[in-house]
Amino acid sequence: MKIRVLGAGAGGGFPQWNCNCRNCDGVRKGTLRALARTQSSIAVSGDEQNWILFNASPDILQQIRSFPELQPARALRDTAIAAIVLIDAQIDHTTGLYMLREHRKPWPVWCTAGVREDLSVGNPIFGVLGHYAGIDWRELKLGEPFAIPSVAGLHLAALPLTSNAPPYSPHRDRPQPGDNIGVTLIDDASGKRLFYAPGLGEMEAPVWQAMREADCVLVDGTLWTDDEMIRLGASAKTSRAMGHLPQSGPGGMLEWLGELPATTRKILIHINNTNPILDEDSPERAELRARDIEVAFDGMEIQL
Ligand code: MLT
Ligand code: MN
Ligand code: ZN
Repeated sequence: MKIRVLGAGAGGGFPQWNCNCRNCDGVRKGTLRALARTQSSIAVSGDEQNWILFNASPDILQQIRSFPELQPARALRDTAIAAIVLIDAQIDHTTGLYMLREHRKPWPVWCTAGVREDLSVGNPIFGVLGHYAGIDWRELKLGEPFAIPSVAGLHLAALPLTSNAPPYSPHRDRPQPGDNIGVTLIDDASGKRLFYAPGLGEMEAPVWQAMREADCVLVDGTLWTDDEMIRLGASAKTSRAMGHLPQSGPGGMLEWLGELPATTRKILIHINNTNPILDEDSPERAELRARDIEVAFDGMEIQL
């Protein structure tokens, strides 16, 4: 399977339009060695013809332009995106659906019943899109591996994550199974596995098992410290309260990644613009290098 990172940034992207933190200011002025990143999305294919879009970012049009494989131009109106999977109902993962409204048929969108409810009631994108291409909802069930008919060569298995539903969800701060999922992608030919979870708030046993079974983990890299946003005065919430396990500190992502087999490829994704790992010259980035942990960037490709 081939995985293409379309956007490695968290909500807001990097630099964020109104942010003047050290990172955003530095990348804007060119005084910081760091790559700009668009908002959270990946594309995955088993045959490099048909692609699953994981999350529809507000930056989707720019992401499609920078990855021509998604636009094979076989007909007047055409796309290689054969299905869309939503891992939660957050703005940074769903707003791009509006930009895909010119599709010629209803979009096969795979998501849990909880995410569908949030996108029908709290933020009724699905209803609005009913006036355009429409949504052909396919219920994404947790547990057993399943195939997406229009995408050959891959199986998916979803598991619930304790993270957080969006502010407009009836279950905000009262997490329900299916508000956020992690997905294992299995290549039918090679048997290789990717575990993808850009919003991972707690390392529960089934999540840890999926990570240990994976050949590559592409996991939550939102914030370095739990109180990063509080110390900056950017938010009143800790990383954990927002549903994102911080990298540093006891029980943080680095400790967990350190327990994985040396052969597992370890990559952080959904990086918030305040995170010091974006600065390629920072001590935090050096620590990741020493631990053999990569930081995803827009355009990164992974072959499994
Ligand atoms: C999150 O990952 O916590 C959300 O996407 C944040 C946001 O976009 O506001
Ligand atoms: Mn997000
Ligand atoms: Zn910033």
